[in-house]
Amino acid sequence: MADDTLAHELAKMQKEISVAEFFTKNRHLLGFDSKRKALLMAIKEAVDNSLDACEEGDFLPEIQVEMVQLSEFKYRIIVEDNGPGIVKNQIPNIFAKLLYGSKFHTLKQSRGQQGIGISAAVLYSQLTVGTPARITSKISPKHPANYYELNIDTQKNQPKITKEEVVEWKKDHGTRVEIDLEAEYLKGRQSVDEYLKQTAVINPHVTLVYTNPKAEQTIYARGIDQMPKKAVPIKPHPYGVELGMLINMLSMTSSRTLQSFLTSEFSRVGSETAKEICSNAGIKTDTKPVQITRELAEKLIEGIQKTKLIAPPTDCLSPIGKELLEKGLRKEIRAEFYCSTSRPPAVYRGNPFIIEAGVAYGGEIPKEEKITILRFANRVPLLYQEGACSMTKSLTETSWKPYGLQQSGDSIPIGPAVILIHMSSVWVPFTSESKEAIAHYQEIMKEVKLALQDCGRQLGSYVRKKTKIHSQIERANMFERYIPEVADSLAQLAGANRSKILEGLKKMLVKPEIEKEIFSEEDADDEKFRMKFGKKEGSDEDERRETAEEA
Ligand SMILES: Nc1ncnc2c1ncn2[C@@H]1O[C@H](COP(=O)(O)OP(=O)(O)O)[C@@H](O)[C@H]1O
Ligand SMILES: [Mg+2]
Repeated sequence: MADDTLAHELAKMQKEISVAEFFTKNRHLLGFDSKRKALLMAIKEAVDNSLDACEEGDFLPEIQVEMVQLSEFKYRIIVEDNGPGIVKNQIPNIFAKLLYGSKFHTLKQSRGQQGIGISAAVLYSQLTVGTPARITSKISPKHPANYYELNIDTQKNQPKITKEEVVEWKKDHGTRVEIDLEAEYLKGRQSVDEYLKQTAVINPHVTLVYTNPKAEQTIYARGIDQMPKKAVPIKPHPYGVELGMLINMLSMTSSRTLQSFLTSEFSRVGSETAKEICSNAGIKTDTKPVQITRELAEKLIEGIQKTKLIAPPTDCLSPIGKELLEKGLRKEIRAEFYCSTSRPPAVYRGNPFIIEAGVAYGGEIPKEEKITILRFANRVPLLYQEGACSMTKSLTETSWKPYGLQQSGDSIPIGPAVILIHMSSVWVPFTSESKEAIAHYQEIMKEVKLALQDCGRQLGSYVRKKTKIHSQIERANMFERYIPEVADSLAQLAGANRSKILEGLKKMLVKPEIEKEIFSEEDADDEKFRMKFGKKEGSDEDERRETAEEA
């Protein structure tokens, strides 16, 4: 006898799970897996949003970050910006509804992308402390400021407003976020302090005023008064589209034919290219998008792969640039030598990206330790999961010995260096929702290696010159020590005046001055190079020399 009672029993238990409930149980997926990390994540989500908002509104960012210890493991965080503010009726959704944001559906470089950042911090606060999030926001001097106290109804994934009022606020515009949470404040490599310092390195246009729980204040003043170049949204590139996304786009489009769908929804598809895609897919150009079945959509993807397309536009990116990158490093790291590079745009899965790298060497950086790797994605420091990140892998797979660092096999090199890697992209392929490590795409890893090799060559040339000059100085010192004895012997042999000989020998002694020599010699080198080859950076000659060095 077939018994269906169990199926009916199970049916009673089967129901929808809200995202908020899901993340309540799986907070580690969002990065809130320890008290220490939770503090960093909450600050990071708020600061990243503030920076994105200021840049979108064209306001030079001035961000205040404050942490107050309420009890042993209870902290209050306050983040305030001078951005464009948030319109009143959006405030509850932004802070108390998961997966709600403005960036998920646009393809342009920004710090946030999923729409799950700040609301995750509010959810964690609610789970650990229970007090509502307190938000103040103002959109212009003409408008009053709105103040909200908010919780999340986790079953419905909807905001619960506990207080709502209009308040006085001295600011012209901006947003202030105040959240209490279970946390632990520690210094060190993965701390809030480190995150803010690295944020200042990679965003030289930002002023950060930071007050730690001991009420000590640090001000990271901006190094330049210019906003970064604004990123422009682009449409998806056909090479990046996957089956599910394509089916979804086909069902949403208002285009009436496949051809017009292709030209209007994608970048780099004109009518000729659209016809070519259709013919490569074996589908008629005037097919209605609604008539495209799953099987046809698969054929369409094959057709796209067979068609030669121009790479996506890159004005959706806002790289930092070689000069500013170096400026950022100089501003926050005391070293004796700095160099940097910014690669031309490349593409992975249809998404354009740019890799930039920089090196700070010597000076106050410890000599006998592993180098420090600073990883960034869209101007956000990545502090966790260094070992799981493709940037780290590209770095360790680069051989650093020719560039003057110690390294055994594919390990992290040792020496007085800080190496910075930055990826700018419309979509950074993180390995998880907590946005800590970048996935191992071949295209990305190759670009990182090329950027590192470029910096490596500059570093190697500096280290070699420095070593050469040091040995010259050593020889000169040796000579200097023996001058009196030599003078004695010569005076005896030649029967000449000892003090004259001594004077003559001293005149012969030329000691190089380190700073002057290294840099003047480099300039002279550059000049010679330009005269011979017309250009220096990234030239073929450079690449060839590189391969020879590697061999
Ligand atoms: N300080 C702020 N000023 C202006 N807008 C903000 C601010 N914080 C958040 N927002 C808006 O709220 C949205 C949701 O933020 P968030 O949950 O962190 O997701 P994401 O940053 O990934 O889009 C953002 O896309 C942005 O439009
Ligand atoms: Mg965000």
